[in-house]
Amino acid sequence: MIRLAISKGRILEQAINTLEKVDIICEVNPFNTRKLIIPTNLKNLEIIIIKASDVPVYIDSGTIDLGIVGLDTLMEDGKNNHFRLHDMTISKCKLVVAGKAKKKYFNNMKVATKYPRIAKKYFENIGFQCSILELYGSIELAPVMGLSDFIVDIVETGKTLKENGLKEHDIISNVSSLLIANKVSYKIKRKEIDLILDKVNQ
Ligand code: PRP
Repeated sequence: MIRLAISKGRILEQAINTLEKVDIICEVNPFNTRKLIIPTNLKNLEIIIIKASDVPVYIDSGTIDLGIVGLDTLMEDGKNNHFRLHDMTISKCKLVVAGKAKKKYFNNMKVATKYPRIAKKYFENIGFQCSILELYGSIELAPVMGLSDFIVDIVETGKTLKENGLKEHDIISNVSSLLIANKVSYKIKRKEIDLILDKVNQ
């Protein structure tokens, strides 16, 4: 049996669509169930729906063989104890620093983010110290309300920044979703995994 974890949220819909195009079909509609383990039309493949940040934990531990997860999540996790098999080229967005238009970086500025490791590393690399405020959603609110000076967040259409009067200052990385594999699973289940990989490569 091959288990494939897919990140909940914005990745899930596009990943399911991509799999459907290559005839990997869920037997239960993942958007209309509370089931977390979804059988597919391939007898040896189950899809597991997981919160994005938990995907690397399941894959790196070998509990789940394959995962579809954003590069942002992998960068934040930072452990990289898995193989990156394929860029699914879905859920494309970018990780950026944003804030009010005229604001300039300064030492000890406050940065709000869901990505504390990425943010800290980015500002260290460009020579600024900052204090990180870890938030869990609606990050754009922080500079608007005066909680932080900047944010590090993902931007897809740019609509949220624009509608809240914020501006992109720097791009940290372009992001898309990758298919990753547990290293041991990829050795001992190579044939089965390669069959799935061939399909998504079509
Ligand atoms: C993400 C991100 C931004 C928004 C960007 O949030 O954190 O807030 O999408 O998208 P846009 O550039 O297309 O406007 P998400 O929708 O995942 O919700 P969250 O804020 O609750 O994390």
